[in-house]
Amino acid sequence: MNKKNIVIFISGNGSNMEKIIFESKTGILKDVCNILCVISNNKNALGLKKAGLLNIKTFVSNSENEIINILKNYNIDYIILAGFMKILSPYFVSLYKNKIINIHPADTNEYKGKNGYKWAFENSKKITKITVHYVDEGIDTGEIIKQKEINISNCQTLDELISFGLIQEHNFYSNVLAELFRKN
Ligand code: GRF
Repeated sequence: MNKKNIVIFISGNGSNMEKIIFESKTGILKDVCNILCVISNNKNALGLKKAGLLNIKTFVSNSENEIINILKNYNIDYIILAGFMKILSPYFVSLYKNKIINIHPADTNEYKGKNGYKWAFENSKKITKITVHYVDEGIDTGEIIKQKEINISNCQTLDELISFGLIQEHNFYSNVLAELFRKN
């Protein structure tokens, strides 16, 4: 099987990115993908430091044209969004149709956009769903690849909910990607 060449896009903490890098070095993603580089639209993203420490090449750019030029240097199979907060233009999405994947901390059928955990907390949700989906021209409207239901009824504060949710995301995202890369 050919390993998939992937690029990870981040804007912030990069905890999902970090998990994907770990798994690609020694875990379930080891035999299925190569991480070519990490791109951040935010020069202050903590994830940039984490990627650098893990010896992954990083780029910072807030310009889609510049990002497209960076990507042209690589033969890319998938772009993995991991907390990437910039909205990609329909043109960009058309260049990488069905190759861009995102993780969303809620059920995209129920809640789209930022702050999915805050939404779940404020609406006193007992259960929420983490969603891995393809990215299309809309915001969190792309085809769902897989969802994971999580019971959040024991989370007393929003911070607790975010910490708990992120741990579930880390394992889920890497597992879904491993399955996808093996199949496609
Ligand atoms: C995660 O909750 C993810 O679902 C959402 O943004 C957050 C990113 O967190 N899209 P991190 O940067 O991976 O820590």
